[in-house]
Amino acid sequence: MENIKEKIRIFVEEECKKPTNSYGYQVYSNHLLPVINYAKILTKKMNANEEIVELAATLHDIGLIMHGRENHHITGAEIAEKKLKELNYPEEKIEQVKHCIRTHRGSKDIKRETKEAQIVADADAMSHFDRIGGIFWIAYFVEKLNQEEAREFVKTKLTKSFNKLSKNAKEIIKPRYEAAMMLLE
Ligand SMILES: [Fe+2]
Repeated sequence: MENIKEKIRIFVEEECKKPTNSYGYQVYSNHLLPVINYAKILTKKMNANEEIVELAATLHDIGLIMHGRENHHITGAEIAEKKLKELNYPEEKIEQVKHCIRTHRGSKDIKRETKEAQIVADADAMSHFDRIGGIFWIAYFVEKLNQEEAREFVKTKLTKSFNKLSKNAKEIIKPRYEAAMMLLE
């Protein structure tokens, strides 16, 4: 099934390049790649299904990329289903991938029923620690904050991300979390 992972990766990367993606290509390089990387680390640690996790991690923000932030956990699950069906991916595995996408958002209190879903949500939050510059970018250019406010904004965002992680994910990210807090004090 190497083939399907690569086909999905290419599909998502191509969508990231389109001008209709208001987040720019950086969502692929600065967000999706770190998420996939952390997802792989957690998959080994937790003995989860690698294929489901990798497909879901790659597709988790496809709704946001194609249609914007609102309800992107739902639009994303629908797009994933359509695409995976086209590629003749087995029905029951499609359901597992969709469950990960539907439950990946920390802000939407939807219960995660599988360890694969927990891994994708963890990896999504962990990726913030790979792109502190990106969070500053949001603080300055989207939120239009001053330096002091931006520092607080980043600190709050990282603390929230850290607190919602599972025990395994916290263990991995703790050194980066502590280093960030030290610099942002
Ligand atoms: Fe994400």
